[in-house]
Amino acid sequence: MLVRIAPHIRSSEITPKRIYLNRRRFLASAAAGLWLARTPAHAEKLANLAKSPFSTSEKITPIEAATQYNNFYEFGTGKEDPARNATKFRTHPWKVKVEGHCNNPKTYDLDGLMKLAPIEERIYRHRCVEAWSMVVPWIGFSLAAVLKAADPTAKAKYVAFESFYDPSQMPQGRWAGIPFPYVEGLRMDEAMHPLALLCFGMYGETLPNQNGAPVRLVLPWKYGFKSIKSIVKIRFVEKEPPTTWNLANAHEYGFYSNVNPQVDHPRWSQASERRLGEFFKRKTLMYNGYGEQVASLYNGMDLRKYY
Ligand code: MTE
Repeated sequence: MLVRIAPHIRSSEITPKRIYLNRRRFLASAAAGLWLARTPAHAEKLANLAKSPFSTSEKITPIEAATQYNNFYEFGTGKEDPARNATKFRTHPWKVKVEGHCNNPKTYDLDGLMKLAPIEERIYRHRCVEAWSMVVPWIGFSLAAVLKAADPTAKAKYVAFESFYDPSQMPQGRWAGIPFPYVEGLRMDEAMHPLALLCFGMYGETLPNQNGAPVRLVLPWKYGFKSIKSIVKIRFVEKEPPTTWNLANAHEYGFYSNVNPQVDHPRWSQASERRLGEFFKRKTLMYNGYGEQVASLYNGMDLRKYY
């Protein structure tokens, strides 16, 4: 997704070595106990998690990879920057405003938000537009629970999301080359789909800062950049809302951004992907393998036009 990649080198060719080297570093630091030092002090166990029928039985990506190979541009554009630069990110207290075309707008604190539905563990495939992927045991509940509690009106055709942004806590964001606050959006029926997860944790604990603490989206059938982190605003709107990567480069990133191996990124193929920790590439699946659940949302749409 980086605009800075040299045009003659495909990102899919660069990734393996970086992942390989990073992985060696993860293992070395884990062995040395350094990984523990990076875990935020306030990480809490999330117990009594219900199992989800949406979970995959595929091998889970090691926690070190999922928490130290990140995209969170507010904290820098390097894959290891978020883990390094977000350690002091203040996520308590936290408020999430639900507003716009609804009968019951409300500002939640984190505890109130988490009480809206029982939290469960969902093991999802996560496919980045950069052609790497992982399998993560996320924790949360369907976004629909919050949306329904707000009682949206007939004018609510889309849902817009906004991330927290504070340049004093996120000085690296100034050089990221994309506009902040990070914004994302979904059509109402996508947002209401049970697979759309409002996520509070991963690997049995609350979210690490670099993964979008304290609350983010996880949309497993879409490229990872739709899964907006550190959410502070959820707004019901009438028109398709602006989205950060589309604002940054409309030619390369569309509003829908469903995982689609048949529609290449202008600079690289989307036909295959590299699972973090694996050497050989694997084929990318339509809707990242969630077609049975979500394909009907896009019936009759030209997926080359609505990319
Ligand atoms: N949310 C915000 N606020 N800022 C970001 O830079 N990056 C996106 C998405 N959400 C991003 C974000 C991208 S490109 C991806 S692939 C995923 O977060 C990465 O999530 P992970 O680091 O937990 O794997």
